[in-house]
Amino acid sequence: MSKEIKPIKLGVLISGNGTNLQAMIDRIQEGTLDATIELVVSSRPDAKGLRRAEKAGIQTLTLDKSIYANPEQADLVIATELKQHHVEYVVMAGYMRKVHDPILAAFPNCVLNIHPALLPSFKGAHAIQDAYDYGVKVTGVTVHFANSDYDSGSIIAQRALNVEEGWSVDELEAHIHEIEHELYPDVIEALAQGRVHLEPSSRRVVIDPIQ
Ligand code: GRF
Repeated sequence: MSKEIKPIKLGVLISGNGTNLQAMIDRIQEGTLDATIELVVSSRPDAKGLRRAEKAGIQTLTLDKSIYANPEQADLVIATELKQHHVEYVVMAGYMRKVHDPILAAFPNCVLNIHPALLPSFKGAHAIQDAYDYGVKVTGVTVHFANSDYDSGSIIAQRALNVEEGWSVDELEAHIHEIEHELYPDVIEALAQGRVHLEPSSRRVVIDPIQ
């Protein structure tokens, strides 16, 4: 007998284009992602992702740059808003900031991030360019739980990509985004199905197979 799936309530944190947010919206609308997006929070007022959220009828919150002068205070505001919207999982999607204790404590092991490289290689904000410049033959995408350090939490899922001879960095980026737009909704769906388990006292994450 298949397990009943309860849609999980997401809060999505963005700073820019929001193509990963769009991929989640599309999957929810086509019925292959059992989630609702309760709130989109942007660290930038001009983020294109905000328009995507509005178009999909999702509530948004934009924080002025000045509020980030005190990052802990900013994260307390964000955590409070997310809780008021009954968010269960916080999904960072191109959010160019660290999350701090107010968010991590309010959502223990429930804050996710996506990184456009195979962690622990190429941490940081320029991972695709850095991997390309390094000349790697294989790179990929990582979805992981967030902690208070950049790109360092427990790895939930990774997908590798062969870098073909002659690709430009733009071609590499396009392939990376293609993977991201599949992998992130897939991981969130696995969470919704209760298949993702963080092993106690380790950083290992186990994903049960689909029944
Ligand atoms: C993605 O490549 C993600 O891995 C990185 O920032 C980018 C965000 O893209 N953290 P978008 O805003 O979702 O289009």
